Amino acid sequence: MFDRLPPAKTDSLMALGQLMQADPRVDKIDLGVGTYRDENGAIPIMAAVKSAERLLIDEQISKGYVGPAGDFEFALRFQEAVFPGLEREAGARLARVQTPGGTGALRLALQLVAQANPGARVWVGAPTWPAHLPLIAAAGLVAKTFQHLDAEGRINTAALHEALAQALPGDILLLHGCCHNPTGVDLPLDAWRGMADTCMRRGIIPLVDLAYPGLGEGVAQDVAGVRAALALCEYALVAVSGSKSFGLYRDRLGMLMLLSASPTIAFNTARTAAGQARLLWSNPPDHGAAVVRIILASHDLSAQWIAELRAMRDRVNAVRARLAGLSLQRLDLRSLPAQRGMFAMLPISSEEVRRLRELHAVYLDDSGRINVAGLNGSNFERFAAALADIDTLVVPA
Ligand SMILES: Cc1ncc(COP(=O)(O)O)c(C=O)c1O
Repeated sequence: MFDRLPPAKTDSLMALGQLMQADPRVDKIDLGVGTYRDENGAIPIMAAVKSAERLLIDEQISKGYVGPAGDFEFALRFQEAVFPGLEREAGARLARVQTPGGTGALRLALQLVAQANPGARVWVGAPTWPAHLPLIAAAGLVAKTFQHLDAEGRINTAALHEALAQALPGDILLLHGCCHNPTGVDLPLDAWRGMADTCMRRGIIPLVDLAYPGLGEGVAQDVAGVRAALALCEYALVAVSGSKSFGLYRDRLGMLMLLSASPTIAFNTARTAAGQARLLWSNPPDHGAAVVRIILASHDLSAQWIAELRAMRDRVNAVRARLAGLSLQRLDLRSLPAQRGMFAMLPISSEEVRRLRELHAVYLDDSGRINVAGLNGSNFERFAAALADIDTLVVPA
């Protein structure tokens, strides 16, 4: 029967990874997959994580299931690390379910929406993280896209307003909480407030994908918009990933925050979400969550984590500034320092992406998206030379 399956589409980044692996050149530059890399090109394990892992080995006394809703203490500490004081403000209107990564939180949120309102449409600005549209479809929901940016590369507020005007009560607005992937261009604070206000009036529910807290300007600054929206909304869903901020990609660290109009609805929604989680993955993995719980329960380890996160963000922002300082004729990279997070879109065609790959062993997505953290002191000059080669190409009119 499996012979009847249609040929599976390969994820573009996975295909890129395969091409790169097959490339025998030793000086390849990987700007594809969205993992943070340090100055040596490694995906580092944070020192705070290593310390917490050692403590965990000594103190863990059981490998029993954590339950479909996950570890309550981890989830509350994680929430308070990202949104300090929110628990006091929102109280029992806010519930949490631990999930396998941000992807699990998004899947669970969409599944919950599909259960509550099977006809809901999910409005999302394009371009967006490539998994968003398949995740929406996997939950049986319909995606509606609008343009995230205008021709000048600024937030397209007109398109957002138009989308909100067309949305029906019970529809979902999917937003990137910070460090927009792939553009690096985030909603300004007033747009978050305006959006939340409209959602409230029109019965539209924001679903925030918060995958990079702390990798833009700092945790508090990065989540300021989400926080302002949460203060205005009766209902909201926030899918938080710890994969990037704690460097715990493979440990699948995440949670879904559920804000509801009343404590009773919040309680029931969280229970329903836990029921859905039971069917999707039964119980979330514990290791990453236990590590983060230990870090956040310790003053010293928390301080160490915050310092390490700052160093990651500073490095990313320094590479952005260095890219913007390149003297190129045609390619304009001057907006990069104003953008946030690990991703930026190079204004180049897929043909030019191919040229970078084939002639210069520089690997990036066909869309022109680069992971800024893939650049470092050892490969920057070579990347700059490759860009200069593209820069002098004549673009067909
Ligand atoms: C925008 C966005 N959302 C969610 C995720 C999912 O992260 P996780 O690995 O925690 O599932 C990613 C990961 O690349 C992402 O870029």
